[in-house]
Amino acid sequence: MDKVGIGIVGAGSIGIRGALNHLVLPDVQPKAYAAAVCDPVPGRAEAAAERYGVLRWYERYEDLLADPAVDAVTLCSPIGLHYEQGIKAIEAGKHVHFNKTMCLTVAEADHLIDLAARKGVHLVASPGVMLHPHAQRMRRLVLEGRLGRLAWAAAGATISTYHLQEPVRQGEDVLSNIDPSWYFHRPDGGPLWDVTVYSMHYLTGIVGPAKRVAAFSGLVVPEREFRGRRIVCDMDDNTLMLLDFGDSFFALGYGTPAGSVTRGFEPSIFGTAGSLVGCCFNGEDLRLPGDHAPHVTPEHAALGESHVFEDLMQLVDWVREGTPSIASADHARHVVDIFESAYRSAASGRTEELRTSFEPLELADLRY
Ligand SMILES: NC(=O)c1ccc[n+]([C@@H]2O[C@H](COP(=O)([O-])OP(=O)(O)OC[C@H]3O[C@@H](n4cnc5c(N)ncnc54)[C@H](O)[C@@H]3O)[C@@H](O)[C@H]2O)c1
Repeated sequence: MDKVGIGIVGAGSIGIRGALNHLVLPDVQPKAYAAAVCDPVPGRAEAAAERYGVLRWYERYEDLLADPAVDAVTLCSPIGLHYEQGIKAIEAGKHVHFNKTMCLTVAEADHLIDLAARKGVHLVASPGVMLHPHAQRMRRLVLEGRLGRLAWAAAGATISTYHLQEPVRQGEDVLSNIDPSWYFHRPDGGPLWDVTVYSMHYLTGIVGPAKRVAAFSGLVVPEREFRGRRIVCDMDDNTLMLLDFGDSFFALGYGTPAGSVTRGFEPSIFGTAGSLVGCCFNGEDLRLPGDHAPHVTPEHAALGESHVFEDLMQLVDWVREGTPSIASADHARHVVDIFESAYRSAASGRTEELRTSFEPLELADLRY
């Protein structure tokens, strides 16, 4: 395929900042373009199409899927819609980029992966954190035994008030008055699906799949406020997990309303001969000048949310050149398994065996 026509599904915060802002830059044009945009909020898709010069806009997702110019979709809608929208896209023969998180259960992930294989379409699942050079250097250090015998790790993130304060939500027009309430409601709200997902992709990408999880989970902030409106929160915002990777290597995972014991989304990993803390190995920064994910030029980096653009371009390359991405649906399914099992453990009081696995990168796969 010469140029991949992308359908942007949802013209909210990440549809604008992670997809449309990037897709109009000149370096993208030989490979891909924004073919259509859809959003059910009246006027939003039309306003986005007008601002970014997209030829077609729709209020109904089904109409976007029926558009022959759309070869692939990027799901920039709330997480709880991704499974159903993914199935419909695959049925329509479209390739799919899932913004995090791909779906909410292992059963959903199995269905998406099986159906895509049967229909011959490709799936890329964010967050593709292992595309970062420093993440691959971390994986290399583990594989080369430079940390010694792994003992324990911590990985997690805090939701804080980030989505309530995103600048893209503070305006008066339809493209900048975007309600984030879903981030605080069941089934797809809370910090695990939203932010801990980055940390858990780093941790499992660096050390490999986990085997068991036990968790406690609850709600600390039952009410929030967005631009003077009250949000009654019903999704847990405070979850602590214990993960067993086998061989007496354990990890603490967390998604909290406040506070952090790790640096950034990167995990801390402690071994008998060395440690990874944030982006550092034994205190030395693993990020080198000029480092960037494969498609992130300085222009893309300056726009922000370039990791979303990177993951979308992984799908574009796969469609055009047949190169599978390491931002794989298998890896995403394993992280979904960890969170789904953690919530089940918190409800039952029992430790849960994880049912899924994935192939972590081998030394020969590492580019850095
Ligand atoms: N906001 C961020 O900082 C951020 C960063 C990275 C990834 N993400 C991911 O991006 C995705 C979207 O998050 P967001 O923050 O942009 O949410 P958002 O609420 O800002 O935007 C979601 C948009 O989807 C639209 N929508 C609702 N139902 C729809 C439907 N049936 N079909 C099409 N569109 C529909 C909404 O009207 C809204 O415009 C999520 O998967 C999230 O995890 C968000």
